[in-house]
Amino acid sequence: MDRRTPSPDRRLLFDTLSDYIEQIREEGMEGLPSETGARVASAESAESRPVPPPNPDEDTTTEPIAEVSAPQAPLRTVAMFARYPGLEKTSNLEELREFIGDCRRCKLYESRTQVVFGVGNPHAELMFVGEGPGAEEDARGEPFVGRAGQLLTDIIERGMGMKRSEVYIANVVKCRPPQNRNPEPDEVEACEPFLMRQIELVRPRVIVALGTFAAQALLRVKTPISKLRGAWQEIGGIRTMPTFHPAYLLRNPGDKRLVWLDIQEVMKELGRPIPRRGKA
Ligand code: URA
Repeated sequence: MDRRTPSPDRRLLFDTLSDYIEQIREEGMEGLPSETGARVASAESAESRPVPPPNPDEDTTTEPIAEVSAPQAPLRTVAMFARYPGLEKTSNLEELREFIGDCRRCKLYESRTQVVFGVGNPHAELMFVGEGPGAEEDARGEPFVGRAGQLLTDIIERGMGMKRSEVYIANVVKCRPPQNRNPEPDEVEACEPFLMRQIELVRPRVIVALGTFAAQALLRVKTPISKLRGAWQEIGGIRTMPTFHPAYLLRNPGDKRLVWLDIQEVMKELGRPIPRRGKA
């Protein structure tokens, strides 16, 4: 075949790619991810999508500080946002909430009461990311209001000396998994673009990833939280501290001291004073 004449297959591929690039431009994409970001994202999607272990909160450790470091994670990939045309254009949290609507993009809608979007200061310098709503959160429509939520509030208010309303709190999945089971990979994948957009809109200086799911989803690694906790990571240039989930701490109160170490790192990073009796 004459090499200068594209085959019908190549022509189709070329046209499809052109349409795709055109579409993401129309949605306001300002540029493609950096080569490094794209490489990291594709290597990770092949190897280390956040496939959750069966009992993510059961990881225990006696190590005070993690030694494993995840690669720099981009905040989002092109494909992630291409799934939801228009997401890009949401310019504040209200618009994003409206965009999500009465979401039926994954099977979690079948058993949830409502979408639990997020709460707090839309310009917070500190953002907490948990796993997904439990029963209490599903009923009230606000993240972290059950027992684990009370402990998180204590960490923020008594431990850090901040108000809960000063920070922003969100989850990886916005709908309660039935019987509080772990979110499944397709559910995490369906909801991930919304969390990434929330982060982009709040643009916190620091993120605290609570537990295995949040850490793995944000950093796009499969490393357990026991190995990740205590070591700074970056996601889209935002300093991110993985630590144990408050629900894990309710079952393993001895590990509160490790979370307190992580929280002190966060306070230092934010340039805030560490309260003297800063224990939740
Ligand atoms: N656990 C979470 O991860 N998120 C909540 O909102 C409540 C409990």
